[in-house]
Amino acid sequence: MQVVRTVAETRAALWALRAGQGTVGFVPTMGALHEGHLSLVRAAKAGCGVVVASIFVNPTQFGPNEDFAKYPRTFEADCALLEAEGVDVVFAPQVEEMYPEGAATFVEVEGISDRLDGVSRPGHFRGVATVVAKLFHIVQPDRAYFGQKDAAQVAVLRRMVRELHFPLELVACPTVREADGLAMSSRNRYLSAEERQQALVLKRALDAITEKYAAGERDAAALREAGLRVIAQEPAAKLDYLKLVSPLTLEDVQHAEGETLVAIAAWVGATRLIDNVVIGSRV
Ligand code: PAJ
Repeated sequence: MQVVRTVAETRAALWALRAGQGTVGFVPTMGALHEGHLSLVRAAKAGCGVVVASIFVNPTQFGPNEDFAKYPRTFEADCALLEAEGVDVVFAPQVEEMYPEGAATFVEVEGISDRLDGVSRPGHFRGVATVVAKLFHIVQPDRAYFGQKDAAQVAVLRRMVRELHFPLELVACPTVREADGLAMSSRNRYLSAEERQQALVLKRALDAITEKYAAGERDAAALREAGLRVIAQEPAAKLDYLKLVSPLTLEDVQHAEGETLVAIAAWVGATRLIDNVVIGSRV
């Protein structure tokens, strides 16, 4: 496994590999890797001859009062995990490599970036779109793998790929959960033992909505109400949003007729957690 730090090194490493082994699969991450990240790597390994991962805690997607400085950085352990999965190249740049001094170029997917997390994290999706566009230009993958755990991120990036004509396929992979249902996240390591238990309320709320949907309810307000009742039972959780939206546009739906994204964000102590499920048929 080659660990590269600069754009030039990455291009040189991939030039040789691409010629020999065909399609390039790419898994962008911010490190602090867990089984969720590794599931993306495995999907890339299964579908591509060459697998590239990136580890970069991207400052432009963090708000001024967010956790950029304390975001977990576990580079050595991350590299050991990626090596064990058979990753070919890890791109781990410094901030100055990705954002040269005075960098003034940003990618903004308008409208959709102001929905779900975009409301309480203004500028977040602009930062995500910008760094992912840069990474796509550097790595030039044939396929790029993202987690459905961050469903709004997937929606924003699908739009960007289509509208900027990136010649790649964006693959969304299922959310990997702990045995008790908590969605895996690098931020779970902020939680105390007590908060770790309280955090289960996000999944319980989504389950309540899924059950009500399975029982025949289609009215979005009634489905949402079922989730809110569950959240109310856990006073330690402060709800940011619970929404039923179109998975493509992230706009609210009134009726859960087609595929519907049920997305939740809540604070447990000082930690903001997100989760989601998709209900409805794919026809
Ligand atoms: P990060 O939070 O490190 O996540 C990297 C990738 O892993 C994302 O595609 C995310 O959706 C996926 N992922 C995280 N938890 C998962 C889980 N439990 N199951 C399945 N996939 C999971 O998302 C980012 O980094 C950044 O925004 C990034 C795209 C790298 C741009 O900076």
